[in-house]
Amino acid sequence: MPLLTRRQFIGTATVAAAAGVVALRPTDQGAPYEPYFASLNQALKAAGIGTPTLVIDRARLHANAEHVQAHVQNRLHLRLVNKSLACMPLLDELSKLTGTQRQMVFNLPYLQLLTQQRPQSDVLMGKPLPVVAAARFYAQPPASGFDASRQLQWLVDTPERLRQYRDLARAQKQSMRVNIEIDVGLHRGGVPDLDMMKTMVQLIAEEPLLHWAGLMGYEAHTEKIPEIGGLREQSRAHSKQAYQRMLDFVQASPLKAARDQLTLNTAGSPSFKLHDGSGAANEVSVGSAMVKPSDFDTPLLTDMQPAAFIATPVLKTGRFVAPDGVEPLSTAAGWWDPNQRASLFIYGGHWLANPVAPAGLSPSGLIGPSSNQQILLGSGKQALHPDDFVFLRPTQSEAVLQQFGDIAVYENGRITEMWPVFPAQA
Ligand SMILES: Cc1ncc(COP(=O)(O)O)c(C=O)c1O
Repeated sequence: MPLLTRRQFIGTATVAAAAGVVALRPTDQGAPYEPYFASLNQALKAAGIGTPTLVIDRARLHANAEHVQAHVQNRLHLRLVNKSLACMPLLDELSKLTGTQRQMVFNLPYLQLLTQQRPQSDVLMGKPLPVVAAARFYAQPPASGFDASRQLQWLVDTPERLRQYRDLARAQKQSMRVNIEIDVGLHRGGVPDLDMMKTMVQLIAEEPLLHWAGLMGYEAHTEKIPEIGGLREQSRAHSKQAYQRMLDFVQASPLKAARDQLTLNTAGSPSFKLHDGSGAANEVSVGSAMVKPSDFDTPLLTDMQPAAFIATPVLKTGRFVAPDGVEPLSTAAGWWDPNQRASLFIYGGHWLANPVAPAGLSPSGLIGPSSNQQILLGSGKQALHPDDFVFLRPTQSEAVLQQFGDIAVYENGRITEMWPVFPAQA
């Protein structure tokens, strides 16, 4: 006799399948604000803010800066990455906290702005600008006292560009400092081998108006390489060796200079911790990590804290109802996933950012993003009302910090300052 009749078997299988399906259903992720964001919400309301606003937590910013400072202190120079912190008071604050005037600049408008407004800056360009952009800089030099021949290093990556800069120096009768970009494995650009370096060295050595200021080797790739079979460690080691080889070559040439007179720049937020001054580089760049957007949630940066959030007002709340024509889809979505039962519309949206508070909010796959009034879905446990704020964490700070007008500075439970940002600029 069979253990189960056919009917019993089908019944048992159906119950098991239903239990399996129920077990797969997402659980409710919603919750009201945790105390940190409840205070931030109150602070923004008390400050009379009613538009999407970038908020910086000053205590967290300070803690991050102190962390970076503790790492570089007495070992390495620190250069602030201007484009990732594109707000003058923010750069000023970090410059004061870390005691550096060094900045890495990536475009002509920000170069003009910085050298005009902060003539004490020491500037290294972070990308090789077309020579016409450099010519524009000399056509309208800052009237601030900034001395480009001492305080500015143009980045050059190929003999062709170096010749263009040399010709510009001759045409302007202008002495120029040049820093050579080297390819230490990222392959984004820079001098890839000693043959090309030899040509670069010759060109500089032959031209009295050009002065070799140092090297820049950026190794953003190493921390992206999976930790499989020692691949990441290998690529870290390779990039340091490539840097050393290039430096040794130039130091054995007529350009030879005292190490402390050179800017030997490397790293960025994800990798600055890999350097301690014992290698070829004597300087690291750090920008994004100071406010730690989510792309920087990486193993080497676990001690640093998110310090920048987008706060945007809730406009409407309610039950999630999909648009006419597909309304039953929202019923089905809500049945399946409790986190799709309630909807709210926020002021703006579609930023390079993800909702983080209150917990359990996410965009709707059904409706899609909107830059005007984005829908977010949740279970309703967030207990939000119109005019409350939703907090999103930017994935990056570059280009995002400048999107919201003045930055609101949050400290001790209040918005204490509003910091103007740089104009949006590629
Ligand atoms: C040359 C160079 N150095 C450093 C950085 C690091 O910037 P951050 O610290 O903001 O990641 C960048 C970022 O693009 C870069 O291009």
